[in-house]
Amino acid sequence: MRLNTLRSPLRTNDSTSQLAALFADRLVGQPAAIDAIVPCLQMHKAGLSPEGRPVGVFMLLGPTGTGKTRTVEALAEVLHGNPKKMVKVDCGEFQMEHEVAKLIGAPPGYLGHRETQPLLNQQKLNAACSEKCDLSIVLFDEIEKAAPSMTRILLGILDKATLRLGDNTTVNFENTIIFMTSNLGARSMQKEMKPDFGFEQFIPRDNSDFQNKLQKIGMSEVRRKFSPEFVNRIDHVITYQPLSSDSMSSILDQHLIQLQDHIDRRLAARSFRIDVPMKTRRALLKIGTSEEYGARELKRTLQRLVIQPLAILLSNGKIQPGARVRADINDTRTKVIIRVQGDELLDLAS
Ligand SMILES: Nc1ncnc2c1ncn2[C@@H]1O[C@H](COP(=O)(O)OP(=O)(O)OP(=O)(O)O)[C@@H](O)[C@H]1O
Ligand SMILES: [Mg+2]
Repeated sequence: MRLNTLRSPLRTNDSTSQLAALFADRLVGQPAAIDAIVPCLQMHKAGLSPEGRPVGVFMLLGPTGTGKTRTVEALAEVLHGNPKKMVKVDCGEFQMEHEVAKLIGAPPGYLGHRETQPLLNQQKLNAACSEKCDLSIVLFDEIEKAAPSMTRILLGILDKATLRLGDNTTVNFENTIIFMTSNLGARSMQKEMKPDFGFEQFIPRDNSDFQNKLQKIGMSEVRRKFSPEFVNRIDHVITYQPLSSDSMSSILDQHLIQLQDHIDRRLAARSFRIDVPMKTRRALLKIGTSEEYGARELKRTLQRLVIQPLAILLSNGKIQPGARVRADINDTRTKVIIRVQGDELLDLAS
């Protein structure tokens, strides 16, 4: 399905199937994630989530650039109307034990107690919900990079929905949905995906054997890295699949919709329309499809071949407000030529 626009985020009385559809608009080709997360939101909405623990705990695994972090951003957009509305802990910034200690703050009497505010606190959690939805999303991104004490902190949160801070106060995580993303097993998964074949061929979309294999690789790495009590407290470990060419094509469509939205929002009265014909889209997909970097490469390709040349034209005053701009691929399919309607062809590289 080609989208012309993304449906707007959740309204208070939207049903769960609408919620799933809004989610799927933003997260392409990962139905297992949507199938696991939506029921948990349903339980929360019905008031039937278990007491004394977070509403849901999810570990997202799989190859790079397949949408693990995007899942959480998409959910924030659907629930709160803002992809950034969440408490995000970039675990790569907590590789040392003393850095993890900053999350909970120093106990009274310790050096720096007054100056250091715990990075995780109740106000931050409360600020991550919205009028539309009282659920706060908490993301521990790239969990495997954190020092081991992060797992101890997480155990308390996952088990009792409580975090005890350095000053002995507690933070309540009962109204949170917790995500952890990880690249654990990604390398072995990559091997399984037979990179010597073309991108399209190594994605057996309906091959459940292949999907089970990836899931097994992920689970065994998780079991190797984390203790059984930690793994036991995770509701769902979801392994992301490599993106099919159809999914990549939908993601490109999304990126182009977002680009137009961005132009409209940022330039307001000076905005213009950009048309990207199918031929150019196909070429962008070909150049931007990478088994190694997933959809990340597509984003970079769009940036390099379309957005950068567009920015040059714009800053040189070549695009008038209300203009129509067309992005054509050149004959050798290596470069995008931006044409402002009514003008002669503007080849930026020449
Ligand atoms: N399934 C998807 N649906 C929609 N967009 C996607 C999807 N996968 C990737 N993207 C696009 O690619 C970008 C990178 O994806 P994302 O950050 O989610 O990767 P990741 O799986 O978290 O990878 P890493 O393991 O490297 O962190 C996203 O910002 C998004 O624009
Ligand atoms: Mg990520």
